[in-house]
Amino acid sequence: MSMTASPDNQVHIRDLSFQLLFSETMVQERVRALGAALTESHAGLNPLFISILSGAFVFASDLIRVFDDDCEVGFVKLSSYKGTRSSGDVQTVMGLEKDLHGRHLVVVEDIVDTGRTLHFFLNHLQEQEPASITTVAFLRKPHAVEFPVPVEHIGFDIEDKFVVGYGLDYDGLGRNLPGVYQLIEG
Ligand code: IMP
Ligand code: MG
Repeated sequence: MSMTASPDNQVHIRDLSFQLLFSETMVQERVRALGAALTESHAGLNPLFISILSGAFVFASDLIRVFDDDCEVGFVKLSSYKGTRSSGDVQTVMGLEKDLHGRHLVVVEDIVDTGRTLHFFLNHLQEQEPASITTVAFLRKPHAVEFPVPVEHIGFDIEDKFVVGYGLDYDGLGRNLPGVYQLIEG
């Protein structure tokens, strides 16, 4: 088993090696700050957190537990990625069962890369006339300009390198790492 972090702060998944980028402590500190900001803006509104599966489920589960008031949670499954490259196509695989009309929505995404996934999904949500939509992304890459999407809260802005951990996977693996690891290229 090579997926345990070694003393040099690297993990090895299949054919690739990754270097620690954000430790569990750094991640949790940032998530607490995001939770505090959302509590400021959304306390009393009974927001519906919408977690985009699969990647955002770890972030969403921590985020709702640092949101200090009533809230609800829903999940939506969209697909756009294969391996380390985007396949381009965004499809809803599993939808929300809740009525979104008049609700305050907090969309929780693991990472905004091109922005294609969020762009598609936010348009879809808008059509259901919610009271408001706030977007929170744990990570954002510089390409996020390709499909301009409003993201109100960002955990960390990162370089354009593939990352795993804290919900993010490489070929299905790495989601359970408590920190974030960046691909070592070359
Ligand atoms: P976008 O539609 O190009 O913004 O891509 C967003 C989705 O691609 C995310 O929700 C992730 O599932 C996936 N993704 C983008 N970059 C990475 C990465 O570095 N590691 C793992 N998944 C990624
Ligand atoms: Mg995702």
